[in-house]
Amino acid sequence: MTGTDTTALVEGMPRHVAIIMDGNGRWAAQRGKSRTHGHRAGASAVRKAVAFARRNNIDALTLFAFSSENWGRPEKEVNLLMELFIAVLKREVPQLKKNGVRLNVIGDISRFSQRLQERIQAAQAATAEGTDLVLNVAANYGGRWDIANACQSLARQVQAGTLDPSDIDESAVAGALSLADLPPPDLLIRTGGDIRISNFLLWQLAYAELYFADILWPDFNDHTFMEAIDCFMRRERRFGLTSEQRQQLLAGI
Ligand code: FPP
Repeated sequence: MTGTDTTALVEGMPRHVAIIMDGNGRWAAQRGKSRTHGHRAGASAVRKAVAFARRNNIDALTLFAFSSENWGRPEKEVNLLMELFIAVLKREVPQLKKNGVRLNVIGDISRFSQRLQERIQAAQAATAEGTDLVLNVAANYGGRWDIANACQSLARQVQAGTLDPSDIDESAVAGALSLADLPPPDLLIRTGGDIRISNFLLWQLAYAELYFADILWPDFNDHTFMEAIDCFMRRERRFGLTSEQRQQLLAGI
């Protein structure tokens, strides 16, 4: 399927899409504008992506907004991003609520300002009843941090005597990670031209289909999203099985 028909797809659609939104800075530089301008334009693209996901019955959308490594950027840019997150949360929450979107922030938010932490808690609480789409925003998130955090949580349970080390299997680890309550992402989209995962959901992306779009995040639109889904739907997901086994499994043989 091609084009921008965004209503017809259901069968074979990804249920959970993760996105690495890259390219705001370059988008702004191409226009002779500041990086701030690029991030603001990036926030508009976020709004479009959320609306697309809702319209197309995607259950969960997980966006990489701020990595653990982004603290190393110039202080001015980090501060601007924080102010932008606060402003976006304040502005968008009523609409998210109205549209049945449940906001969930993943990552170590303890390093954020008190004001931002409170805004995040309030936004999560205000949208907690949403059932149409789960919008996960990864903020001060890193895949390695997530796995280390899960290890700590399991170790604490062992220390407390509520978990036996021999019971630490893949499902126990998965259950201690961020997004434990969701199926793992089916599709990862990265904009900006780089072909890497950059410490995003390292465990959760084990079987995701990867799609790299050669455009900058502020230019991401329904058409690009649809192209990624179109490509996803043409892939054969075997999960380690042979093609024949997979076909038989899907046919219920
Ligand atoms: C990557 O582009 C983008 C970011 C580090 C920030 C992402 C933030 C937004 C899209 C704004 C708002 C988001 C939410 C969820 C409210 P870059 O700066 O690395 O671009 P470059 O690679 O061209 O320098």
